[in-house]
Amino acid sequence: MDLGLKNKVALITGASRGLGAATAEALAEEGVSLVLTARGTESLNAQAERLGSANGVKAVAIPADLTKEDAANQVVNTALDAFGGIDILVNSAGASQGGVFWELSDQVWQDSMDLKVMGTVRMMRAVIPGMIDRKGGRIVNIVGNTGMQPSPRLLPGASANAALLAITRGVAEDLAPHNIVVNALNPGPTRTERWTTLMDRLAESSGRTVADVERDYTEQIPMDRLASPAEMGRLAAFLASEKAANMTGACLTADGGWTKGIG
Ligand SMILES: NC(=O)c1ccc[n+]([C@@H]2O[C@H](COP(=O)([O-])OP(=O)(O)OC[C@H]3O[C@@H](n4cnc5c(N)ncnc54)[C@H](OP(=O)(O)O)[C@@H]3O)[C@@H](O)[C@H]2O)c1
Repeated sequence: MDLGLKNKVALITGASRGLGAATAEALAEEGVSLVLTARGTESLNAQAERLGSANGVKAVAIPADLTKEDAANQVVNTALDAFGGIDILVNSAGASQGGVFWELSDQVWQDSMDLKVMGTVRMMRAVIPGMIDRKGGRIVNIVGNTGMQPSPRLLPGASANAALLAITRGVAEDLAPHNIVVNALNPGPTRTERWTTLMDRLAESSGRTVADVERDYTEQIPMDRLASPAEMGRLAAFLASEKAANMTGACLTADGGWTKGIG
C-alpha cells in the first residue's frame, strides 16, 4: 500500500536493530528519509547505508545514549541541521530487564525508566516545538502490551509501558489542535535481540530451558507464535501515515490476541 509518506523525514530511536530497525525499513520502503539513532555507531552506520542505498532515500546516523540528559536535544538539533524539519518521530529505544520482583535492584528499575520513559519524554519534548511551527507531525511510541497486562517477570518494562501509554494519551490531547497525532504501538512478544536476551536471562535465573520459559508466553497467545519485527515495523509505518490521520491518543495492540480486555 502507498502510505503517502514519500519525501517525509522520520527520526527513529533504537534504530540499529529490532523494532526500530524494522520500522526504519518499512518507512524507507515508502520513500521516507531517515534519521537513525542508537548507541552503537558501527551498526547504525551500516543500517543507514543499507536502507539509504536500497530505497534511494537519504539516511543519516546520529549515535547517542538516550539515557543522557542532553542527548535528545543534540540528536534533534543535528537532525534539523541535516533536514530542516522532522515530520515523524518513532520512539523504539528500550532495554528493560526482567526477573523476580523481590530480586530486582533499584538500578534495574532506574535504568528502565531512564531509557524507555525519559528517553521518549525527552525526544518528544525536543521535536514538538518544530512540529508545532510546521503545523503538523506524527509521533509513534513503541510501547508494549505488558503496560496493560503486566507479566510478573517483566515489571520494570511493564511499568515503563504503563507510563508511556498515559503520556501518549495525555500529550495527544494537547497536540491535536496543532495537527500533530501521537499514538502507541503495543506489540506482544516479538522475536528481536531484546526478547532473546530476556528469555536467556529468565532461563538462567530459573534453571529452566529457554524453550520452556518462552512457552510460558506463547501458550498465552491465541495465535501461538511470536511476532516478527517486520510485521510490527509495517504497523508503526501505518500509524505514521496519512491513512491513520484521524487516530490520536490511541494504542494499537498487536499481540496475537494475548490482551483480553475490551477497549
Ligand atoms: N521485542 C519484544 O518482544 C517487544 C515487545 C513489546 C515491546 N517492545 C519494546 O520495543 C522497544 C524495542 O525493543 P526491541 O525488541 O526492538 O529491542 P532491541 O532489539 O534490543 O533494540 C533496542 C534498540 O535500542 C537501542 N538502545 C538500547 N539502549 C540504548 C540507549 N541507552 N540509548 C540509545 N539507544 C539505545 C539499541 O541500540 P544500541 O544498543 O546500539 O544502543 C537498539 O537499537 C523496547 O522499548 C521494548 O520494550 C519489545
